[in-house]
Amino acid sequence: MNKGKIEKKIVIGNWKMNPSNNKEALKLFTSISKLILNIKNTQIVVCPPVLYIENINKNLKKISLGAQDAFWGDVGAFTGQVSVKMLFSAGVKYIILGHSEKRAQGEENSEINKKIKAVLSLGITPVVCFGENNRDESHEYLNFVKVQIEEGLNGISKNLISKIVIAYEPVWAIGKSALREATPEEFREMSIFIKKILNDKFGAKNIVNIKIIYGGSVHPENTLSFLEEGKADGFLVGRDSLDAKKFIEIVNITENEIN
Ligand code: PGA
Repeated sequence: MNKGKIEKKIVIGNWKMNPSNNKEALKLFTSISKLILNIKNTQIVVCPPVLYIENINKNLKKISLGAQDAFWGDVGAFTGQVSVKMLFSAGVKYIILGHSEKRAQGEENSEINKKIKAVLSLGITPVVCFGENNRDESHEYLNFVKVQIEEGLNGISKNLISKIVIAYEPVWAIGKSALREATPEEFREMSIFIKKILNDKFGAKNIVNIKIIYGGSVHPENTLSFLEEGKADGFLVGRDSLDAKKFIEIVNITENEIN
């Protein structure tokens, strides 16, 4: 990040497959919107299930709209898929790609790569998730993340790389059955490691402004330490994005932290 220049941080809520109907979705969204006060340095993004996007888009104010996945093809015989173009026309500005829950269903790095390219081509911001399933004593997990990044970002133009938001989400830290959250030090180390890979691949000057955010059991209680000690550029929040108060608390802590 450039010294002297305040770069916006980003807090993204991944609602996953929640809530169970349109009315509830609008209610949650309205509660979040009402709690937002004076936010200047933080970009707030909410990623609801795709069916709720249209309704929520009519009510946007200080929040940007995101999606949880997208397919790379424009239109055609792709049963069950929703294209980047469709999401673009529905007002989506951010798209989460390569989430571990999609990878667990068999999504490959090569597929994520195609999706990233499609998302970038329409000027939407891809939020690309990387992270190991578990950590091992011999540090093999570093190599695992390296391969995810190299294959996932293969062939992306140097001019576009800083448009991507990188989310480091160790799989063992995600969700109700998480082993534990990562420590700010673990995040910091990984973010330096990721920057080194990006640096080698895309050149230092092209990645100065790239954002690396943390995801996996983010709560108001651990937000500040990830910002201060972990130097996180923001967060990808799962469970606590379904609780308006907690989500906005995370946003406020992020907003008020001075780097
Ligand atoms: P969690 O989910 O905050 O509930 O751990 C994070 C994520 O999957 O993005």
